[in-house]
Amino acid sequence: MTRIAIVSALHDELASVLALMPDEHKEAVGGREFWVGHLHGQDVVAVLSGIGKVSAATTAALLIDRFKVQRIVFTGVAGGLGPGVKVGDMVLARSFLQHDMDASPLFPRHEVPLYGRARFEADAALTDALELACERMLHSLPQQLDASTVEAFGLQGPRLHQGLLISGDRFVATTAESQALQRELPDALAVEMEGAAFAQVCHDFGVPLAVVRTISDRADDAAHVDFPRFLREVASRYSGALIDTL
Ligand code: ADE
Repeated sequence: MTRIAIVSALHDELASVLALMPDEHKEAVGGREFWVGHLHGQDVVAVLSGIGKVSAATTAALLIDRFKVQRIVFTGVAGGLGPGVKVGDMVLARSFLQHDMDASPLFPRHEVPLYGRARFEADAALTDALELACERMLHSLPQQLDASTVEAFGLQGPRLHQGLLISGDRFVATTAESQALQRELPDALAVEMEGAAFAQVCHDFGVPLAVVRTISDRADDAAHVDFPRFLREVASRYSGALIDTL
């Protein structure tokens, strides 16, 4: 049986995964807790990635080398960048880029030195499987959220977007920075702090990766208010529903 890692950045999201793992046991390595067990009969390791690219890279390397996972699925939240990417929508990554990577003039802007590329791909088959789960989940979401939450967050008809996800060691919380990122990387759908680091490590080890992010804020001047509120009131319901349909 292949072993799959389910990774989240935040505790609330992992709690909904652990609730579905009847036999999990905890192993602590490198200051992290890895929950090893089964989910819907599948061999699973669940872990919090930590926040930022270094924490993410350490977690990915441990999952692969120590816990011998053969596939990695990351679920979490992100700031929306693309014009139609709204709070409550989901972004399924087809490729990744580190927006704060800059070794110019030695290497082109965004290129990861010595890799000869700026972009890393998500695994197509695993991402296609996650796409089906996302569609089922968005379909069932209205039953999981009460009307006042839908109203408060403007969650009518959330959509699934697919494409470029960008990562960097910065919480993007000003409209000016968000606009600068959109000018620099017009096809970027959303920004977060871990996905592209997972993608580079998974590329190094040849391990398939899929990442799905729910949009918690628009990475603008209101992001610092919208982000914690979305996490508190909505995010865990999204991840719980998604894991249920996996
Ligand atoms: N994750 C969720 N929102 C984010 C933002 N605005 N910037 C970076 N990471 C995020």
